[in-house]
Amino acid sequence: MRILIIGSGGREHALAWKLHQSSIEKLYVAPGNEETRFFAQNIPIHPTNIERLTRFAKDNRINLTIVGPENPLALGIVDSFHSERLRIFGPTKAATQATEASKAFAKRFMAENHIPTAPFRIFRKYETALNYLRKCGAPIVVKASGLAAGKGAYPCETLIEAEHALKEIMVDRIHDKAGKKVVIEEFLEGQEVSIHAFCDGKTSILMPPSQDHKIITVGGKKLMTGGMGAYAPVPWVSDDLLHQIQQEIVEPMTKGLRESGQPFAGCLYPGLMITPQGPMVLEINARFGDPETQVYMRLLKTDLLDIMEACIEGGLADIKIEWNSGFAVCVVLASDGYPGEYEVGIPISGLDKAERIPGIVIFHAGTTRDDTGQVVTAGGRVLGVTAVGETLETACARTYEAVKQIHFDGMHYQKDIGAKAFTF
Ligand code: AMP
Ligand code: GLY
Repeated sequence: MRILIIGSGGREHALAWKLHQSSIEKLYVAPGNEETRFFAQNIPIHPTNIERLTRFAKDNRINLTIVGPENPLALGIVDSFHSERLRIFGPTKAATQATEASKAFAKRFMAENHIPTAPFRIFRKYETALNYLRKCGAPIVVKASGLAAGKGAYPCETLIEAEHALKEIMVDRIHDKAGKKVVIEEFLEGQEVSIHAFCDGKTSILMPPSQDHKIITVGGKKLMTGGMGAYAPVPWVSDDLLHQIQQEIVEPMTKGLRESGQPFAGCLYPGLMITPQGPMVLEINARFGDPETQVYMRLLKTDLLDIMEACIEGGLADIKIEWNSGFAVCVVLASDGYPGEYEVGIPISGLDKAERIPGIVIFHAGTTRDDTGQVVTAGGRVLGVTAVGETLETACARTYEAVKQIHFDGMHYQKDIGAKAFTF
């Protein structure tokens, strides 16, 4: 087996780390990061350069390609690989458009398929959207419809915040083309849960529920990040609730996509709000979550390669997916300024010491090495420190013990990853 993973973040490092444990001949990561180059070959091709990636896979006789981020999926990497008869894990361009790449499309799709989601309206014109906002008042949620690196949603507690969000999206165009259309929807109260399902177009199998930590407060202002930490499983999500999520959300999604001619093969990741009225969909992602994948890979017992092959071949109904007992936690260490502007090239110390703590694996996200061989920062989310433990308390304590050993100037992280499980 010759495998290619596309992407460079913590999610891709975690997927590579897990696949490295399967029986494979060669593992490539494009472009990879500082740590993946120790057990895989990093290939300097950007994830959105579909043509070069397709050629690379063909020339190097790649048997299976796994796509980490959403952008290559939205650009049609899966279609391009299929046209060359190359095997690839991920949904087609059309299936990505119907789920993650267009929130407007996804909301209409959910409404048509009676999948519970917040009541919404879609707007193309700024003035009409503004009038609607003023009519509704706050709290309310304003979202850029297109792909915005996970930062295009603005849950607003006041009308002033909502007007500001709408201006940023539609007038200032801070998310560029993603702000051509906006979705304005009801503000849902509850607890968020990340659901991930392996899908082969017909069958879907849920992974354990996890919780992400997307919103941070900086100087009294709430900021949306790509995700600052995660843990799994979520103790208060009962088997009955998971069954309900499968029946009312995941099954109708995969059925609806199949019936509209866009069968979904890959990892389907609906972000949910568990409200007093039941689970409701906040967004549909067409890929693995980051940092949820870092905890999933620490818990997965079954060979990931076997699962991915079953997703591609339509054989998911025939395999059993097993998970280790206990919990996994991931805390993201970010650069000063993230999710806004940040500096790179800052030396990182203490990685060896942190990794010596039992149960710790550190996934790199934004790292590189300078001319002297020193590991330095190269992104907003720099590292994902993960631990496993028989209890969530142990896994959290181990993670934060390891975090304390690591240092880079300006490093910041959330101190309460996993706390939502205890306070619920
Ligand atoms: P999205 O990109 O649509 O998942 O939104 C990002 C984050 O915004 C979610 O993880 C929630 O924290 C928040 N959010 C999105 N939609 C809503 C909603 N309707 N009500 C409350 N919070 C929301
Ligand atoms: N965990 C957030 C995301 O992957 O979009």
